[in-house]
Amino acid sequence: MWQDLDLTVNKIAPDKRTEKPPQDALGFGDHFTDHMFLMKWDRDNGWHDAEICPYGDFSMDPAAMVLHYGQAIFEGLKAYKGENEQIFMFRPEDNLERMNTSALRMCMPRIPVDKVLKGLKALVYLDRDWIPTVDGATLYIRPTMIAVEPALGVRPAGQYYFYVIMSPVGAYYAEGFSPTKIWVTDKYVRAVKGGVGHVKTAGNYAASIMAAEEAHKAGYTQVLWLDACERKYVEEVGTSNIFFRINDELITPPLGGSILGGITRDSVIELARSWDIKVNEKQISIDEVIAACEDGSLQEVFGTGTAAVISPVGELCYQEKKHIIAEGNTGELSKRLFEELQAIQNGKVADPFKWILRIG
Ligand code: COI
Repeated sequence: MWQDLDLTVNKIAPDKRTEKPPQDALGFGDHFTDHMFLMKWDRDNGWHDAEICPYGDFSMDPAAMVLHYGQAIFEGLKAYKGENEQIFMFRPEDNLERMNTSALRMCMPRIPVDKVLKGLKALVYLDRDWIPTVDGATLYIRPTMIAVEPALGVRPAGQYYFYVIMSPVGAYYAEGFSPTKIWVTDKYVRAVKGGVGHVKTAGNYAASIMAAEEAHKAGYTQVLWLDACERKYVEEVGTSNIFFRINDELITPPLGGSILGGITRDSVIELARSWDIKVNEKQISIDEVIAACEDGSLQEVFGTGTAAVISPVGELCYQEKKHIIAEGNTGELSKRLFEELQAIQNGKVADPFKWILRIG
């Protein structure tokens, strides 16, 4: 499968293989498969030394620029096992193209999407026994790029590593597909237009941890961010985009430069429109959401993301007041979207959108 690539494959010795964890207790991102993909970039050679190798440490100088100035970008996508051991990936090219958008914003080199995709397919195929088969569990794939040039000047680094690791995962949230409780913060902000909120760079997540910790302490699953200027308009949840179903219309904040353009977000919009559901990408204020909750027109709220898939919201807490959504239950559209997306991803139903890539 990888013979036609400029890619070295160094397989793990059979006696060094890691024991696979039980599929009913995977958690999220706690276990890693036997192999990883690694390639290097420098100004003279571009991308080179692409290899699939045993999962393990690599060395980095303590002055590596990522450690000081945070030039780090990543992606999240998944591989699935369908009937008869068929293997699928969901919209992998979109993730790799989005990584190039992040690279551009962070002054990092572009990755060759076609070559990386071939390497990714080879990696998933090689570690195919790690793809879980129980309901709701999948193989999460994490492509990452970091600046490794040892230097202390603040400027684009001249050397990078790009690597891909993979992790068998269950549901991202402990709640699984049960409704989550979301803490709306007007104390912290995530991103401003003109900043880096629309790209998948590590610093966005580092900056979110304090608010998430406060939310957890208060008994909430995640944080809902408001816009940084007025602290009024809804932006996104910590690890996902957000949708509101009000009067049978699906509303989600527009991609205005501070929100991540989620691939699951885009899939949900396409799927809902194909079912003749009206989808409106428009600014919505937290006051409008609360008013809709109070007058009964807010039918459901859910988050979307690769890790979170569709994650229903049963409660919003804003300015210390709790607002219960859909009586704390999973909404019917959330359920329909979750089931249909999963069925497409597992190759169980037709894929009219051509989202699925079969690799084995
Ligand atoms: C994903 O959904 O793939 C993400 O990257 C969110 C994450 C930080 C777990």
